[in-house]
Amino acid sequence: MRNLTRMTPFRMIGNLYFLGTREASTHLIDTGDGLILIDTGYEENADIIVENMETLGFDIRDVKIILHSHGHADHTWGTPRLLELAPYAKTYLSFCDLKYISGFTPDYDINDGDVITLGNTSVYCMFTPGHTEGSVSFFFDVVEDGVTYRAAMFGGAGTNQLKIAYMNRREVPYLCRGLFFDSIERLLNEHVDVFVGNHIGHNRTPEKYERMKDTQKNPFIDPEEWAKFLLKSRGALKRAMINDSRDGFVTYAHRGASEYCPENTMMSFYVGEYMGANGIETDVQRTKDGVLVLFHDSTLERVTGESGAVGDYTYEQLLEFSVKNGERSDKIVTLNDFLTHFAHKNMTLAIELKCAGIEKDVADLIIAHGAQHECMVTSFKLEYIKNIKEYAPSLRIGYLCPSITDEVIEELVDIGADEVCPIGREVTSERVEAWHRRGFNVRAYGIGNEEIMKAVYDAGVDGMTVNFPDLLIKYIEEKRTEGGQ
Ligand code: G3P
Ligand code: CA
Repeated sequence: MRNLTRMTPFRMIGNLYFLGTREASTHLIDTGDGLILIDTGYEENADIIVENMETLGFDIRDVKIILHSHGHADHTWGTPRLLELAPYAKTYLSFCDLKYISGFTPDYDINDGDVITLGNTSVYCMFTPGHTEGSVSFFFDVVEDGVTYRAAMFGGAGTNQLKIAYMNRREVPYLCRGLFFDSIERLLNEHVDVFVGNHIGHNRTPEKYERMKDTQKNPFIDPEEWAKFLLKSRGALKRAMINDSRDGFVTYAHRGASEYCPENTMMSFYVGEYMGANGIETDVQRTKDGVLVLFHDSTLERVTGESGAVGDYTYEQLLEFSVKNGERSDKIVTLNDFLTHFAHKNMTLAIELKCAGIEKDVADLIIAHGAQHECMVTSFKLEYIKNIKEYAPSLRIGYLCPSITDEVIEELVDIGADEVCPIGREVTSERVEAWHRRGFNVRAYGIGNEEIMKAVYDAGVDGMTVNFPDLLIKYIEEKRTEGGQ
């Protein structure tokens, strides 16, 4: 049972009332021909809403419309209980947010540009995704002392849910960050006199309620507050993304610590981990007998000295060979063994698909290991990662691309990619900022030397594959010490 902090219900302006608690806001519009509720809070909010309505002289049975700004628990979970008491109420939610709700099925999907009218009030709905996939903002007129004011609620203003740790935990698409920035741009075009908070902190509801007692002018009328809040929200997300790129930066040991060890072997992966890498990058192919193995080239020659291709041999036959780097050598590893060793070490694993037709098996194996949140499946072939996303939407995908054009970015947005992987020499801080603006994680590859490594890190990327993780880790430490981070 959640302990909610009650607030005095009150009339904000015109026919608009506040009925919420400190934790979750609910607003009521008295349309003269029935009541509209906007958001219903948690389950525990429902009975408080009913009591607050009674205090203000309203009857729950007169509720005809319940609008939900988005699907999170603190906006929708009070609805099932309210529906038991409001027999004529119809519920509205963007169906993009159905995954978040429980206990009721909304009567209507909210689409961009919908106008929902009841009595004297028409609510204009603007689709403003980002905070969730289906956040909606509401605009409507309120009249006070004969003057009409435009009121609006930004239906998904919080940015904490767009931090990387939260998004990984809740399987939120990274591109939601880009959608949030787009939504802010659209909302900034709107003039709003009365900013209605999606939470009390957004429009400082309690403070204004207090001020109402001693001022003539209604403090909820503030034509500048809307834009100020939007700009602040945009800044908060930008800052969160910069913090994520520094605090959550991933140093990927590329094919393990392959500068020092035979690439893509257990030796290489463990040395990478020992050096302090918090990520490992590796390459997957399939053997003649269908085993998924970690091997970069299609042929064996370069690293084993043997002839033929990976697919010419069974896994048992491949075990006869050794992968070499100078004096050091080790065996070819299966993806299954790799995941068994590294899936649950709090490391990010970049799994690159090096051949066609292995997408489903790779996805199944990652899921079987419960490693969806640890893995980023990548490829130079757009088709492969597209197949992964279609088959297993919970898996994150990244595109390795030596030349990332605007067209590439649009394609990646279309397929719901999470990460863009530019080659090191193509990385600039401006480009990283532009890719972040679209919501992508940015992970660079092709880091040939320390100079490029430093420039790419300084450009603000979220991660980098390096054959020499020790040098990158040392550089990051130096930067942190220097910057007092
Ligand atoms: O990090 C990606 C990188 O591994 C791509 O290039 O040729 O090393 O697989 P490659
Ligand atoms: Ca690779």
